[in-house]
Amino acid sequence: MYNNIRMNLIENLKWRYATKRFNPDRKVGADDLRYLKEAVNLSATSFGLQPYRVIVVSDPDVQEQLRAASYNQPQLTESSHVFVFCAMTDMPAAHIDTYVDRAAEVQQVPREQLNDFANYMKGSVAGRPEETIEPWNKRQAYIGLGTLLAAAAELKIDACPMEGFEVGEYDRILGLTDRGLTATVIAPVGYRSEEDATQHRAKVRMPLDVMFEEV
Ligand SMILES: Cc1cc2nc3c(=O)[nH]c(=O)nc-3n(C[C@H](O)[C@H](O)[C@H](O)COP(=O)(O)O)c2cc1C
Repeated sequence: MYNNIRMNLIENLKWRYATKRFNPDRKVGADDLRYLKEAVNLSATSFGLQPYRVIVVSDPDVQEQLRAASYNQPQLTESSHVFVFCAMTDMPAAHIDTYVDRAAEVQQVPREQLNDFANYMKGSVAGRPEETIEPWNKRQAYIGLGTLLAAAAELKIDACPMEGFEVGEYDRILGLTDRGLTATVIAPVGYRSEEDATQHRAKVRMPLDVMFEEV
């Protein structure tokens, strides 16, 4: 389905930019949306535990509410869909067990064979100070965000990574707290408006020899 895409990551990353104004009349189609979801889902996470969920908002009423909780940034209502990355606030043993059950099924190995791995993960989590668990989970969500931005650029879908929103309000609007989740970072996706002046600005990045050092 995507064979016609020119697999040129650097060109696509140069093409993308943090879109400020979307064309509200253009919507991301179902196939493309599925591709973006697959890309996020295939992102790496620590131990593979995927300690976040993504709520994809396209209900205009909810988008309006999110805009009000995002300092009125227009991307929230002008975009086609808003990806809200929601980190787990904890890492319960049950989550680890569910993951290991699934691994046993997918990899067709007896569950008992993975018990040591499960216990190792539980021990690793138990050894972490409690207040570090949520930030750990949030870091995994950001990896998903990075994949989303690259995948969207590949499809010439615009996106804007955003932290400029009120977390408490998002958690309330989307009913996250009772689910043990918290809004972490968001990305409205869609198609740029011709009127978005930002698209014409040259990308500002460090020279490679400042960003990287070789040892
Ligand atoms: C974690 C994160 C949070 C950001 N928050 C916002 C935001 O709230 N609003 C916004 O317009 N842009 C936001 N940006 C976009 C950045 O300003 C933008 O990515 C950066 O200036 C680099 O420009 P480029 O992405 O167009 O290459 C955010 C980017 C990241 C990665």
